[in-house]
Amino acid sequence: MTEEKIYLYPIWIRLWHALNALCCLVLIATGISMQFSNPAVSLIRFDLAVSLHNIFGILLVVNYLIFFLGNLFTWNGKHYKISFPGFYQRLMSQFRYYTRGIFKGEHPPFPSNKELKFNPLQQFSYVMVMYILVPIMAVSGLGLMYPDVIPIQIIGISGLHLTDLFHIISGFIISLFMFVHIYFCTIGKTPTSNFKSMIDGYHEAH
Ligand code: HEM
Repeated sequence: MTEEKIYLYPIWIRLWHALNALCCLVLIATGISMQFSNPAVSLIRFDLAVSLHNIFGILLVVNYLIFFLGNLFTWNGKHYKISFPGFYQRLMSQFRYYTRGIFKGEHPPFPSNKELKFNPLQQFSYVMVMYILVPIMAVSGLGLMYPDVIPIQIIGISGLHLTDLFHIISGFIISLFMFVHIYFCTIGKTPTSNFKSMIDGYHEAH
């Protein structure tokens, strides 16, 4: 192993991530299929789409609990703790790198290391997605699976419609995140090196 390789992704995070990505892909395909369901032409047969969406939804929730507990009890969790003093400036500095510096061949302002695995934009987006959007999507999804638990009216609006709205909006933003996330993962030492990291656990430094 060369000195430029740093072990950053423990096996449990890699297994969690692979299952999470698979669940999200199945949930997006079946979710889109149900949203635009048409008995004449369906992307995935409606009853099959519903069953797959329920199974992979439950799997994603169980897997999320592993992520949550893993981050609570191992060192990986510290990478999700945002240190607020100067955070905005660090975000802007990373933004400047992605919009200008990278095209001038500059070095990244926050290269990954054991202490700082994520750059500020990664950290911000991962915290938003994993601690706000995925929980909203999971709780609203469980509500839609067991609609008896949803109040009939919430502040004068149908509880079911409101839950559905939360589910669709969070699912939509997570789908968008996934595409942007995959694009940003191609910005590594080589376009494929970050993907290799998620297989063998070793990050290749710039
Ligand atoms: C096919 C889909 C996906 C691919 C190919 C992919 C790829 C990657 C790669 C290469 C990394 C390591 C580099 C980095 O930290 O930026 C990574 C990390 C990560 N991805 Fe994804 N990803 C996918 C889907 C998702 C989805 C759907 C989510 C969340 C809903 C997600 C959340 C994360 C998180 C939180 C990390 C950091 C994990 C840690 O080290 O603690 N990914 N992903």
